[in-house]
Amino acid sequence: MSTPDSKLTQTLAALGISSAEQVQSLFAEFRARFDSQTTRVIDENSWKTLRDAWLGRKSGVLTLVTDNWLKPATPELKRAVGASLNELRKHVDTQIAARRSAVEAGAEATASAKDRVDLSLPGVMRPIGSHHLIRTVFQEIEDIFFSIGFSVVEGPEIETPYYNFEALNIPEHHSVRDDMDTFYLELPKGAPGPLLLRTHTSPVQIHTMEKRQPPVRVIVPGKVYRRDNPDATHSFMFHQIEGLAVDSDITFCDFTGTIDYFVKQFFGEGVKTRFRPSYFPFTEPSVEFDASCVFCGGSGTAKTGGTCGKCKGSGWIELFGAGMVDPAVYGFVNYDPKKVSGFAFGIGIDRLAMLKYGIDDIQVFFQNDVRFLRQFP
Ligand code: PHE
Repeated sequence: MSTPDSKLTQTLAALGISSAEQVQSLFAEFRARFDSQTTRVIDENSWKTLRDAWLGRKSGVLTLVTDNWLKPATPELKRAVGASLNELRKHVDTQIAARRSAVEAGAEATASAKDRVDLSLPGVMRPIGSHHLIRTVFQEIEDIFFSIGFSVVEGPEIETPYYNFEALNIPEHHSVRDDMDTFYLELPKGAPGPLLLRTHTSPVQIHTMEKRQPPVRVIVPGKVYRRDNPDATHSFMFHQIEGLAVDSDITFCDFTGTIDYFVKQFFGEGVKTRFRPSYFPFTEPSVEFDASCVFCGGSGTAKTGGTCGKCKGSGWIELFGAGMVDPAVYGFVNYDPKKVSGFAFGIGIDRLAMLKYGIDDIQVFFQNDVRFLRQFP
């Protein structure tokens, strides 16, 4: 028995077909075969396969029928073959065009189903983020000083030795410079220099007094830099708020009262302050302020019993340095030391944030681990 395909390569005579009825039933067989193949067209690819199989110029079914059946047909059969072939061609043409539209419509439907926006789905949650704890503490401190008449000024992080040292009464070979081992900038040859990253916010005292006449009441938040090796309490970059108040009659009492007010506002009414003598070249007298230990309430005994580890049993925690502005400094800014007096302080923000929020490693401020940051929304 010959397969449908092998029929296409033989003449009708070879297939033993000699009547118009036989021709019609042969064509009917091929039409049925075509119809069953069209049901398998599901996409562009299978549509192309069908089209090529039936309409392909060289070896498509219709070409083979023309070449092998029609052309060699006997004159008696030619008419019948021609008619059946026309009919089959028409059928194949319309069906193939119809399948094409169906496939295209189907593809569009799937594509638009894919693109459709489902408004009932929940949105994508984008975390809003929060202020860094250092920023928050800056703000807390600024608010406290705003409430007693201070305003904020800022200054450059790159300084000349004059502003960072000399005008603050720290001459070239003063030993205090050793405590502030400094980052100097590498400058191009011939550039005026030297320049350094400020080691404290105190140079902004000088900038401010150069520009303004007393009364001056400012705080200066900012970053400062020192060549310290990183550990739990040291970082080569950290934060300070400088304070400066200069007027015609500011006393040591105004000074300690202001600091006491600030500490109570920041840590709580129950916290006591004290000061101890200290030394800074630009203040005289100079002091170090302490607060009663915020962890043990100043008792020196830990809540769990035993010595408080934070204040080592002393009941006091060192806060920051301060003092009355040294009259020598007024000389650098053309203030008359006989007519003005004032005080200055330099608060380490990182240290205060650590004390207030119970953080025991300064490095966490700079690692930007969201698990840390998220705890302070
Ligand atoms: N600038 C000093 C420091 O960084 C702190 C300070 C500021 C002390 C103002 C007294 C007055 O250590």
